[in-house]
Amino acid sequence: MGKTALITGITGQDGSYLAELLLEKGYDVYGLIRRLSTPNISRIEQILDKIELVEGDLTDQSSLDNAMRTAQPDEVYNLAAQSFVGTSWNQPVLTGDVSGLGVVRILESVKHQCHDARVYQASTSEMFGKVQEVPQSETTRFYPRSPYGFAKVYGYWACVNYRESYDIHVSNGILFNHESPRRGIEFVTRKITDSVARIHHGLASELRLGNLDAKRDWGFAGDYVKAMWLMLQQDQPDDFVVSTGETHSVREFVELAFEEVGLDWEKYVVVDPKFVRPTEVDLLLGNPAKAKRVLGWEPKVRFEELVKMMVKADVERLSK
Ligand code: NAP
Ligand code: GDD
Repeated sequence: MGKTALITGITGQDGSYLAELLLEKGYDVYGLIRRLSTPNISRIEQILDKIELVEGDLTDQSSLDNAMRTAQPDEVYNLAAQSFVGTSWNQPVLTGDVSGLGVVRILESVKHQCHDARVYQASTSEMFGKVQEVPQSETTRFYPRSPYGFAKVYGYWACVNYRESYDIHVSNGILFNHESPRRGIEFVTRKITDSVARIHHGLASELRLGNLDAKRDWGFAGDYVKAMWLMLQQDQPDDFVVSTGETHSVREFVELAFEEVGLDWEKYVVVDPKFVRPTEVDLLLGNPAKAKRVLGWEPKVRFEELVKMMVKADVERLSK
């Protein structure tokens, strides 16, 4: 018999790629979806007839219990979060409630409703924050630099503790930044490629950004969801860094993206203090050696290809 998976955050970037991957593998896929005045299903429209949606919210325990009872999942992928670092300073309590306490609600629900389900927690390189060593690995000390970062550290340790206390098969994927044409528009990569496409089509004349010196280890979301799945196929739960092992600055991303449409970025980019954060994560660079060794996982899409893919998709989208 095929397996059943429940994905929280199925309407987000990663949720949509993961749902497609699991359908390809023959899973029955359930997705937790929260009530919004206008449903946000644009990323999963192409698979709506193949998945089951269950209403629920990470801040509401009974809805999570109901989702677990309905889906009876073999695997639970907890991808839902208030995931935008910038917003976490404006909404620190909500961010803690959803991205931190929400993890405990998921774990409680698994403990009581489907104890044998395997759980994936969307942990993050933001936990390394002001990095204590370069590159960062599974043993690097955390030093979060935002309400989002410290909420995720709480969620991470909740998973470790439920694994040790209750023998729940729960793994943390410590994923470094991953992007795609489905990336939310407020994240820097997509903000850049969307603006480049607008400028190219004569729909905009400038791009306002914050810190151009920040460096990130950027990969492709389509590659990273494979690592999530692989973690839950292991006999033993564990924690894994998932990254490319390369780092690039926001400036490099900008240069390449403008180059793609034959424009000089310096004529269009304006540095705006509004987009500079109260505390910055200056440099992220992950060491994915453990994921390669244990999971046999490696990223396929490299930085230049990722930038090209995203610019191309936005140029095409806007030409319609
Ligand atoms: P995303 O596109 O922002 O998606 C977030 C998802 O969470 C959306 O489906 C959203 O639903 C849902 N959500 C938000 N609040 C919720 C709530 N209270 N109850 C239920 N669902 C809620 O994020 P992503 O890039 O796919 O990232 C997936 C996960 O990986 C997140 O936990 C993120 O923090 C983590 N992560 C991401 C990266 C990255 O680079 N992308 C790296 C490391 C870790 P709506 O559509 O209704 O808003
Ligand atoms: N969003 C944004 N907008 N970021 C900007 C801008 C701007 O105008 N200008 C410069 N940046 C810089 C930010 O200061 C940050 O250093 C970097 O670009 C990346 O910002 P984001 O794309 O917003 O991502 P993030 O690194 O803060 O967080 C993402 O990656 C994490 C994993 O490391 C999110 O996906 C998190 O959910 C994820 O955990």
